[in-house]
Amino acid sequence: MNNIINSTGPAQRPARTIHQEPAPTIYLDYAATSPIDPRVLEKMLPFLSNEGYGYANPASSHAYGKKVAEAIEEARSQVAKLLNVNPATILWTSGATESNNLSLKGVAHFYQRFGKHIITCQTEHPSILDTAAQLSREGFEITYLKPNSQGLIELQHLQAALRPDTILVSIMHVNNETGIIQDIGAIGSLTREREIFLHVDATQSVGKIPIDLQTLPVDLMSFSAHKIYGPKGIGGLYLNDNPRVRLIPQMHGGGQERALRAGTLATHQIVGMGKAFELANAEMDKESRQMLHFRDKLWTGICNLPGVHLNGHPEHRAPGILNVRFETLEKEKVLQHLTRLAFSSASACVSTTTETSHVLRAMGLKNELAHRSFRFSFGRFTTDEDIDTAIDLLTSSPT
Ligand SMILES: Cc1ncc(COP(=O)(O)O)c(C=O)c1O
Repeated sequence: MNNIINSTGPAQRPARTIHQEPAPTIYLDYAATSPIDPRVLEKMLPFLSNEGYGYANPASSHAYGKKVAEAIEEARSQVAKLLNVNPATILWTSGATESNNLSLKGVAHFYQRFGKHIITCQTEHPSILDTAAQLSREGFEITYLKPNSQGLIELQHLQAALRPDTILVSIMHVNNETGIIQDIGAIGSLTREREIFLHVDATQSVGKIPIDLQTLPVDLMSFSAHKIYGPKGIGGLYLNDNPRVRLIPQMHGGGQERALRAGTLATHQIVGMGKAFELANAEMDKESRQMLHFRDKLWTGICNLPGVHLNGHPEHRAPGILNVRFETLEKEKVLQHLTRLAFSSASACVSTTTETSHVLRAMGLKNELAHRSFRFSFGRFTTDEDIDTAIDLLTSSPT
């Protein structure tokens, strides 16, 4: 809202009004989505233009189509390079929600003759939990592991849950609300020993922490462009070719993406995603140090306030996310005071509802404490001044 201030000039002169721009919003919600990097936008624009060849369909056999197909394959290689895999193992999808749906339903439907048991975790993203619920309505049996109070899965719980009819384990890498990093290497060793497929939702880890799929025992991995400065509505799925993962497709049509995901490819988004992954690969080391600096600076600035506690494990956390509970504060009053800060008072996907976080409740937090928890997340365009202002606002919040 603009503040309108009347000047106190001479009575005969018309009153002068000064429109004060509101102070700019400080964006600390990178885990919900990130702004597009200008270098990504630049890469995308020719594919949205009618000049040149960029508008052509990459499935067309004419010269324009072939050029666009080359750009698509370059992007596939950029994505594959970040994960250290063969480009042929990457499928384009519309985002991590679709990749998660395709992974769970695709594997369940293909391998159901070997068993109908699937294991996942209570703290997964809704695109896993709701897909698992759908499979349960179709007759699959789902075990939901409960994490410990710091958000980590206990390996012995997973071990005890594995059964001869288990066909898939799906565990997220970095939690979108708390930033907790699961030990995918150890989980994958257990699933590989038993020849059970492991799917990993890596939407919050890809491009932020190193992932090497030559050493990490993962069979399917979901990811998205818009969490790492790429466009929304585009994502990918890694499908291991050794051991080979088979899927029943969920989308049927023109045979694109090895007939596993039909539909004309979203060329501008795909080239943007490729560029975003290339940049993440080049800048990950520097950026993760920077995010760690912002996370620790914000925490140091507020941790001595009364009733302030960190949610989640103090070490096994991604650098870009800080989840804090303010036990003694009145949430509505605090939110009114913090309107300059764009952050999350629930996960982005549920912030339109008044439900408290299923993630924090699964970690054992009572409803009223989960309700007083906030997620701050940092990224490429965060500055020290942003964090200073956030600390000032948080430390002067009403109680
Ligand atoms: C962990 C996780 N999985 C899946 C998704 C869904 O991703 P998309 O928006 O690409 O569908 C998100 C987005 O918030 C996420 O954080």
